[in-house]
Amino acid sequence: MSEKESHIESRLEEGKIYPPPKEFKKNANIDDPGIYEYAEKNYEKFWEEFAERLDWYEKWDEVLEWNPPYAKWFLNGKINASYNCVDRHVENGKGDKTAIIWEGEPTDETKEYTFTELKDEVCKFANALKELGVEKGDIVTFYLPMIPELAIGLLACSRIGAPHSVVFGGFSPTALHERLEDSQSKVLVTADGYYRRGKELKMWENALEALENATSVDKVIAVDRLGRDDITLDEERDVYYHEITENQATECEPEKMDSEDMLFLMYTSGTTGKPKGVVHTTGGYLTGTSATHKWVFDIKDDDIYWCTADIGWITGHSYIVYGPLANGTTTIMYEGSPDYPDKDRFWEIVEKYDVTVLYTAPTAIRLFMKWGRKYPDKHDMSTLRLLGSVGEPINPKAWEWYHEVIGGGNCPIVDTWWQTETGMILITPLPGITDLKPGSATKPFPGLKADIYDAEGNSLPPNQGGYLVIKRPWPSMLRTLYEDPERYEDTYWSEYSSDIYFAGDGARVDEDGYFWVVGRIDDVLNVAGHRLSTMEMESALVDHPAVAEAAVVGRPDEVKGHVPVAYVILEGEREGSEELVQELRSHVGKIIGPIGKPAAVRFSSDLPKTRSGKIMRRILKKLEAGEDYGDTSTLRNPNIVEQLKKMVE
Ligand code: WTA
Repeated sequence: MSEKESHIESRLEEGKIYPPPKEFKKNANIDDPGIYEYAEKNYEKFWEEFAERLDWYEKWDEVLEWNPPYAKWFLNGKINASYNCVDRHVENGKGDKTAIIWEGEPTDETKEYTFTELKDEVCKFANALKELGVEKGDIVTFYLPMIPELAIGLLACSRIGAPHSVVFGGFSPTALHERLEDSQSKVLVTADGYYRRGKELKMWENALEALENATSVDKVIAVDRLGRDDITLDEERDVYYHEITENQATECEPEKMDSEDMLFLMYTSGTTGKPKGVVHTTGGYLTGTSATHKWVFDIKDDDIYWCTADIGWITGHSYIVYGPLANGTTTIMYEGSPDYPDKDRFWEIVEKYDVTVLYTAPTAIRLFMKWGRKYPDKHDMSTLRLLGSVGEPINPKAWEWYHEVIGGGNCPIVDTWWQTETGMILITPLPGITDLKPGSATKPFPGLKADIYDAEGNSLPPNQGGYLVIKRPWPSMLRTLYEDPERYEDTYWSEYSSDIYFAGDGARVDEDGYFWVVGRIDDVLNVAGHRLSTMEMESALVDHPAVAEAAVVGRPDEVKGHVPVAYVILEGEREGSEELVQELRSHVGKIIGPIGKPAAVRFSSDLPKTRSGKIMRRILKKLEAGEDYGDTSTLRNPNIVEQLKKMVE
């Protein structure tokens, strides 16, 4: 094949369209495209109908109050999230249905909870929290691996009205400390450790380090995951989870929460070093996540649904815990790594539990592609009927592979675009309706208004790249940033006007109204689907005594999407060395967590800067991508770019 022919073929591939398979469409929850028009015309009613599927103690008297940029949904409605995720299914005769399937990394460790058992466990932990003095409104921080106690803990908190703040278990003690301080949490729930690739990893020591000089925590609850005997609890402060829960009653009256009471806080990286505490409230969040879970994943009562995310991220909150459980769905939690004991662990789980709906991330898919199809091919995965993707753009090649090798060519793929801030999926196919184009998250969920703006706020015509904006409030949107409304307004609602949500992503819409999201336009990196702030990494670097100045940019990576690369100017006469590279990498890893470690460190005498001294990260980014870096004449030191280019090459 000539180069030209292969180019044409790849264009054709890209242009390939996948309509919903006939069988799928026939049984789909939503198969009438008229729903888009209905939702557009009856926006509040559309959401009200979803809210009505939940159980409320008191109905709302107004659906939406929009004082841009502040929204309230289902005003004065009274509701409890834990009751909706657990008790009401028991009361509706589904008590014996499996709610959570937990699969430990060691292959012989699994646990299943029916809705009744889950209710009992949630109540016991809720009672234990109360006994420790946790009251409505107190923030409880979780720093746990993917073990059942994490899901139970979220529901226990929401039962008693204590907002949770989950810090990803892979984050460093410094990151945990910062989040504990910012939220002024009274209680930390952590574990002795967990399994990763067959090894025992310690967590308790990290938690202790984070607690040094912590000003608010007075109780620490430790889950005994590994049965370690080398841990000493502080008599005043620390208790074991199993000890405080074992004699508790299996009933605990749920708090009647206001629809707008905070359900949880979730810290996410922003463009400054300080993470943002995204605030989600109760009624709207539960409505939005349960609605999208049901429609986007076409959920039926007998589905076995598996979202492979970690509950330490928003995807796990919305689509492992709250969305699925509110819908009474059986949801799987997996503790470990995809390559333990071998590279077919995911497919073994799919086969073992007859998984029907699988939701994962492009970075994982690319890794599986690299490992080869012999691993999935070992397993019968014919139960799968729908696949999902989230976290970053999925390249058409990975999409096709996922479709063919994992889905056997007949599962629709829902590529879902959303954010920690949006709480729920916003741009997505509806699998019984939407013709899929690999690489596009397709269209806004019914009723939502998304658009692409240029820098001046003009709506752009098809196929012109610009900034993704959302022009209507939605029920599970963030309400503010914790104790920082100013930053909330600045970050999301000031680029254009106070009623236009600025997502921070670059995107275009094609001639059919399909959205193609390119990625972040700010100083946030998406590394293997994890949002990391380059500013945070830079401040970690300059924190090292050898470093005078640092700039971090993303380099495209086949598997992870992007990896961080650090440009470093050293102090005084210091010389770079391989040893120093390793030292700086582990220094950043220590401050942020292993995922923040730069893939490469480049020492240089200078960095490209504007005349006013601002580092031009854009040029460094281009160098890393091997792209033309454009005009450098406005730089104070244009010569440095050529030198750096040689170094990169
Ligand atoms: C990116 C994860 C393209 C995007 C739920 C967004 C995506 C950021 C997609 C949010 C997708 C997420 N296609 N890009 N389907 N999904 N993103 O807060 O840049 O961890 O702004 O939420 O991930 O990441 P976050």
